[in-house]
Amino acid sequence: MSLLIENASQIVTCHTKGRKFKAGKYQSEIGMLRNSSVYTEGGRIRWIGKKLPASLKKKKMQVIDAHGKCVLPGFIDSHTHLVFAGSRADEFSMRIKGSTYEQIAKAGGGIISTVKATRKSSKEDLAELALKRIISSVSFGVTTIEAKSGYGLSTASELKMLEVINELNRELPIDIYATFLGAHAYPKDKTKSEYLEEILYEMIPQIAKRDLATFIDVFCEKNYFSVGDTKKIFMQGIKFGLVPKLHTNQFNSIGGIQAAIGCGAISVDHLEVMKPSDIKALVNSGIIAVVFPSVSYFLDIPYAPARKMIESKIPVAIATDFNPGSAMSENIQLSMSMAIHLLKMNVEEVINAVTINAAAALGISHNTGSLEAGKQADMVIFDTPNYNDLLYHFGVNQAEIVLKNGQVIF
Ligand code: NIG
Ligand code: FE
Repeated sequence: MSLLIENASQIVTCHTKGRKFKAGKYQSEIGMLRNSSVYTEGGRIRWIGKKLPASLKKKKMQVIDAHGKCVLPGFIDSHTHLVFAGSRADEFSMRIKGSTYEQIAKAGGGIISTVKATRKSSKEDLAELALKRIISSVSFGVTTIEAKSGYGLSTASELKMLEVINELNRELPIDIYATFLGAHAYPKDKTKSEYLEEILYEMIPQIAKRDLATFIDVFCEKNYFSVGDTKKIFMQGIKFGLVPKLHTNQFNSIGGIQAAIGCGAISVDHLEVMKPSDIKALVNSGIIAVVFPSVSYFLDIPYAPARKMIESKIPVAIATDFNPGSAMSENIQLSMSMAIHLLKMNVEEVINAVTINAAAALGISHNTGSLEAGKQADMVIFDTPNYNDLLYHFGVNQAEIVLKNGQVIF
């Protein structure tokens, strides 16, 4: 089916001129067209411009009038933990009364409490919970999402989580990328070395054999997984065809960034606590820095130095990190608003951070993340003539129509 989005007041293309991501000054270029149209066929963008060419005019197509609206690339949430069971609402209440994330984890709360609930849940129950969250995420303009395991912490439960993510990807119209995060925490029923062995020699080979994940991730942090553990897990993952990305520098700077670069990771995520040497290491590394203003807001921890990273020409992406412990919100627009006021990014930098740079954090920027002929027709029509309104008129959702592969999905 062909589709024409006609006469949009603004089309924000985020075009790349062939680059994989946008860094430095280029991160604030968004390639905006006025009073223009987009034509899609076979799920791909075929043409963008002012006057539909005569050859296309003859075709049968669905037409959406976008007068007074703006069109953006579909947002890409490149880091979430959207499959989990249970609630940590009580823990949240304790935390805002003064307990820290680390204290709660030590007292048996935190990740381990979600692990207990997730282990007990059936695949059907987990999928139903995840589906609601995905629908919510899509309603804010998300057309591609990444989802991690990491609340199973046993071979059976980690596989169960990844199976759920893969089934949702098959059944739903959006793209969902699966990441294996067995090294999220240590389970209570094993020694550390037993669990590491299980990750390396049971989980990774089985996941690879069944093609259940694209990426491999580790929570590289004091009291979680060391730099040495991270390297071992990444090397084994790479051997089995998985691409590394890393949770690092959330609470402490312990060398995770350098390890990730050494292993050829595609992104380093969190980055709230950064030494000057960490920023220096990222410059020219080609790794995407994925930051989560929502985590800093929710946990009351420092904000990632996004401004400094952009000024150092490091490509910055923004994701929600949606999870029950540190960021219980699937609203990517909220993260975008926080990035303006708390990370001091400008509107254009923020838009590129959830489109083309987020695509690069998943290795898919050749295919999506910008509106250019040949790319997937993943788009959002917002009910405003001015893209600045997305961040100016904050706290409300102006996404009106969400399209994936040229089809209206929301
Ligand atoms: O990305 N930091 C580690 N993992 C998650 C939090 C997980 C949880 O608390 O359940 C994060 O913030
Ligand atoms: Fe995370």
